[in-house]
Amino acid sequence: MAQRGADGRETWTSSTGFILAAIGSAVGLGNIWRFPGVAYENGGGAFLIPYLVALLTAGIPILFLDYAIGHRYRGAAPLAYRRMARPAETLGWFQIMLSFVIAVYYAAVIAWSLSYFVFAFDLRWGDDPRSFFLNDYLQVGDPELSTSLVAGVTIPLVLVWVAVLVVLALGVANGVQRVNIIFIPLLFVAFVGLVVRALTLEGAFAGLDEFFTPDWAALADANVWIAAYSQIFFSLSIAFGIMVTYASFQRRKANMTTSGLVVAFANSSFELLAGIGVFATLGFMAAQQNIAVGDLEGLTGPILSFVTFPAVISQMPGGNIFGVIFFGSLVLAGFTSIISILLGVAASVQEKFGLGQRASAVTVSAICAVLSLALFSTTSGLLALDTVDQWANNIGIVFSAIAMAILVIWVFRKGDVLRRHLNAVSTFKLGRWWVLLIGALAPLYLGWMLVQRVVVLITEGYEGLPQWYLNVFGWGMLGFVVVAAALLSAVPWRGRDNPDFRPWPALPEEPEPLARPDLPRQEETR
Ligand code: ALA
Repeated sequence: MAQRGADGRETWTSSTGFILAAIGSAVGLGNIWRFPGVAYENGGGAFLIPYLVALLTAGIPILFLDYAIGHRYRGAAPLAYRRMARPAETLGWFQIMLSFVIAVYYAAVIAWSLSYFVFAFDLRWGDDPRSFFLNDYLQVGDPELSTSLVAGVTIPLVLVWVAVLVVLALGVANGVQRVNIIFIPLLFVAFVGLVVRALTLEGAFAGLDEFFTPDWAALADANVWIAAYSQIFFSLSIAFGIMVTYASFQRRKANMTTSGLVVAFANSSFELLAGIGVFATLGFMAAQQNIAVGDLEGLTGPILSFVTFPAVISQMPGGNIFGVIFFGSLVLAGFTSIISILLGVAASVQEKFGLGQRASAVTVSAICAVLSLALFSTTSGLLALDTVDQWANNIGIVFSAIAMAILVIWVFRKGDVLRRHLNAVSTFKLGRWWVLLIGALAPLYLGWMLVQRVVVLITEGYEGLPQWYLNVFGWGMLGFVVVAAALLSAVPWRGRDNPDFRPWPALPEEPEPLARPDLPRQEETR
């Protein structure tokens, strides 16, 4: 039986349940599939500097902001923002629509991982993993709006969507929390075993050298910094509505900031572990071919996991076991993240349109499944996926973080009340620096980086793809997110928005005068 709070809202059954679910959301394809390649492409060891700066200056502060909004206003992003300040509902829908787009392609990568989990048993990719992945498995064609479905992708993709639907329909505690309680420990054990094995391979340390050798010049490049910030946002599942939703299901008396620190450090530790594991393995491959790791091809993007890795696995003694665990880990990590992405979307639809939990789970999963099959299990799926991922992350999520900081702190002036909310329920207290960091540093700094990235994408295009293609899958996709957010917030609210809702604990909503000393307040000592 699911637990409910005094307001009737379902809750996680314990703080451990919440922390595991939040780690499950954070640790995902972003850690294993995205981070090693992004780090390598953006300066190797030097990338760790912008990465850590991004974690401390924006990752953790915005994670706390997401938690504060969801926990205080007790709703998925649109409802929580609406309760904070009515016009802010549109920002909530913007974030949820980004989640929707991300879920649609994220499922495809989980489906590929599921196929490769099976292929690893008999090393089905044979002697030419590149040709197997691109020609036999994905059957990649030209950048076009292809409608020919690829059966090998369609079947696992349908399985992924059915599994997502079942978990969401079971609810927060019986579905999402239970899956995480089983999958997350399993994932950690499997992945640590994998990394230990990778480190014992011949050439492993040459791989680590390549990963950790800094290219300092990269630090002067704004694109490297934006890659670090967007990686942190994607990886921590922040600024796109997921953590607002997760925190809204947390019990009212819950230590939010301390949980956030555990989640953030667990996620980044896992990310680094993934980088170490992947590059130790690449070191082995380079040693087999007698070349330097940097001379290996295919160290970024989907090619790293689905071409280069299978090639290494084939050369490794006991490679199939390694492959089964690697792709199995990708499936576990991806699945616990996609259910968090979709929970945000399903809960928003449920709250706005007054649907039941099951009805909203079925509606949202079915729409996403159809789109994901139509767009990403066709012969043009790989190119579309890479383009959507680039725009959704480097532009969409970064823009969302900036908009969130400006609206919450400057327009609706809720920074201080949210800080006092977190302090009232948590043991790790936040000073005014938190409001300042989000209100000033984050938007200025992120804003400057975003402009640079937009200019590069407009003037240089992306990966040599035709402009019409970028207009559809890049800019067009973002346009769709904006229009959908505006339309969804214009529709009259039909569901749960109790007019008697009062945030707890009761705090004066106006900002405190800045001159007052930061003495512990009554609520904070409760
Ligand atoms: N946080 C999830 C990931 O890293 C979305 O993949």
